Amino acid sequence: MPVILHYIGHSCFFIENEQGGILIDPFISQNPQAISHINPSHIKDIILTHGHSDHLGDAIPLSIKTGVKITATFELANYCSNQGAQVNTMNLGGKIELTSASAKFLPAFHSSSATGGKYTGMPAAVLVDIGGYKIYHAGDTCLNAEMKVAGEVYKPDVALLPIGSTFTMDIDDAVIAAKWLEAKIIVPMHYNTFPAISADVTDFKKKIENLGKRCLVMNPGESIQI
Ligand code: NI
Ligand code: MN
Repeated sequence: MPVILHYIGHSCFFIENEQGGILIDPFISQNPQAISHINPSHIKDIILTHGHSDHLGDAIPLSIKTGVKITATFELANYCSNQGAQVNTMNLGGKIELTSASAKFLPAFHSSSATGGKYTGMPAAVLVDIGGYKIYHAGDTCLNAEMKVAGEVYKPDVALLPIGSTFTMDIDDAVIAAKWLEAKIIVPMHYNTFPAISADVTDFKKKIENLGKRCLVMNPGESIQI
């Protein structure tokens, strides 16, 4: 089976192959724009980039209900574990073999706390290696030079990049990130979910295509084969 990338909305993606898949940043039930056509029984792992509610989302109840493990950086994994979730504890630089793919945690420049202000460790970007494809999920971040390193060292095929500004990179910085990451396929995320992160995705697409790269603008509920 090929690798399928499902976009659920905001920064939530489900990446799967024949072994099942990884659900990243499952902000679903609290996001009115989220649309999911994925088969819940295919979810074998959950990865969190950081603890903010628009990323932690349904992870804990989902793990409690299904026993699926949440993979996250140390403090966030412990936070989830204390609430009854099953977890894998990671930190930046670590690589883990999950059911369908491996995942490596890389730096993101942001903050990370759970509702109520509880500190949940370093935020992360995640590099998923599935069926020979490397998919880089930037998490929430500003433009940062670590992306140059990620491009040079890991050469991702696909980059999922926030473009909504205010809390993350804006369009122009995300275009630079796309260049530095050297990925051929760019998927925008973390925009237009609420007014503070509105962005003109057509403008982003044009700027990415000017780099000679493919820009896949996915609607919530859409899936593509990589
Ligand atoms: Ni955030
Ligand atoms: Mn966010």
